[in-house]
Amino acid sequence: NYPKRIFSGIQPTGNLHLGNYLGAVQKWIQLQDNGENVIWSIVDMHSITLPHDPKELSNNILKMTATLLACGIDPKKSILFQQSTVDTHAQLCWILGCLTSFTRLARLPQFKEKSETLKSIPLSLYIYPVLQAADILLYKATDVPVGQDQVQHIQLAQELAIKFNKKFGNTFPSICVVEDASQRIKSLRDPSKKMSKSDQTSKSRLDILDKPEILIEKLKKAVTDFTSKVTYEPEKRPGVSNLVTIHSMLTGKSPDQICSEVEGLDTGKYLLIYKLVLADVIVEKLNPIREEFSRLIREPAYLQEVLRNGTERATEIASDSWCEVRNKIGF
Ligand code: ADP
Ligand code: NA
Repeated sequence: NYPKRIFSGIQPTGNLHLGNYLGAVQKWIQLQDNGENVIWSIVDMHSITLPHDPKELSNNILKMTATLLACGIDPKKSILFQQSTVDTHAQLCWILGCLTSFTRLARLPQFKEKSETLKSIPLSLYIYPVLQAADILLYKATDVPVGQDQVQHIQLAQELAIKFNKKFGNTFPSICVVEDASQRIKSLRDPSKKMSKSDQTSKSRLDILDKPEILIEKLKKAVTDFTSKVTYEPEKRPGVSNLVTIHSMLTGKSPDQICSEVEGLDTGKYLLIYKLVLADVIVEKLNPIREEFSRLIREPAYLQEVLRNGTERATEIASDSWCEVRNKIGF
């Protein structure tokens, strides 16, 4: 009998893009505003599993904090904290690492993908999902909202919770993996790929902090096809369907509703007019976020205070769990 508690994390790498916003942050804000017990972590320890620049990392942590607040994360309703400031993440990771195997981790698809291009694979990249399990179990989280790409990692966390409970006595709740059924937001330049921070192609993604001119420019160049009708057929017409998905997730209207609303519209060559209609919707949503971000980023002392307060509240929960773990394993 564990109280419902929701945990999720985001890496402080680069800018938040519209895929992150629609796929994660917008949902976090809904959960927060529904009065759920929620914890969000800026997972800086995960972000150093690939080479990084220290100055850039510390800037990015503040930038991500300002961005999340600007999007609507409210530090009074949510616990928002920086992962590395709570020591017990690394400590629990070690314990959980003793409960899983080399071959179990090798099966995880994200590791295969990320390591493919590397000559020398950091150990941390390999055990990343164990740290992710520690992130979740430390707060006895019962619900972990993530995209489809993360489901197998949450299953590992689930497995480790069960293993720990069996070996050392009931400690962790079972984790509810809510598979996110919504469409992933796709790259504007190649709709067969997802919109991603790691995609180096400029104009492939819409960043939350892009100015209106930039957003419009990127949307105009979004790859679609030669049919000038707006339809929602993700398999057959991934380009235009991606635009409809974005439109739908921003407005809460169904894809069918969007398509019938623009039915009579003369969409012009390459759907230009539809792209401009969508650009309006996006700009209207992102303008206030960008403005709030520029206000907040000029208040580093405030941002640090928010993070400090988050650390305090997260530590309170994490210390209790860690104490329990220590005792149970005989430390
Ligand atoms: P990225 O792939 O851009 O580096 P992350 O792996 O940091 O993004 O993911 C942060 C959150 O954003 C996760 O919950 C992830 O599922 C979500 N997310 C990332 N890309 C997309 C996308 N294209 N569409 C929907 N959600 C996404
Ligand atoms: Na990623």
